[in-house]
Amino acid sequence: GMIPVELTVNGREVHLQLDPRTTLLDALREHLHLTGTKKGCDQGQCGACTVIVEGRRINSCLTLAVMHDGDKVTTIEGLGTPEKLHPMQRAFISHDGYQCGYCTPGQICSAVAVLDEIAAGIPSHVTPDLDKVSLSNSELRERMSGNICRCAAYPNIIAAMNDVAG
Ligand code: FES
Repeated sequence: GMIPVELTVNGREVHLQLDPRTTLLDALREHLHLTGTKKGCDQGQCGACTVIVEGRRINSCLTLAVMHDGDKVTTIEGLGTPEKLHPMQRAFISHDGYQCGYCTPGQICSAVAVLDEIAAGIPSHVTPDLDKVSLSNSELRERMSGNICRCAAYPNIIAAMNDVAG
């Protein structure tokens, strides 16, 4: 049977009735028509489906919507609008942080969350030592390693992140 799921998506409360097997990605794209979040591999390998849930980035293809009952979800549509872009969106434009654009919503959600992770002192493989977490390029590259870009815009993505980080 169907299961009721309540989410707050981009600040709006939504009530869904979902097959419990529905991924968060499919709930966003097919039930809420938020198609900014992309389906690349659908198996956790590309990062195109990255969204921010309760302040942390996740691959929405790897998690079931029912597991997020009551959670706050931010997608690319909630970060900025064409009239009022998020600073990270502006930086991706000014640094050419994309070519085909397919991975871009996931890249931008991830990039925004990465800067928050660093600000919060959350360690990574590069810097397991909490006190030494920094904005080095190797740190940023490591943290963005789950977001694949077939056009290889990686250096420009890192430049955009550095720009936003100041
Ligand atoms: Fe989720 Fe590729 S679509 S990681």
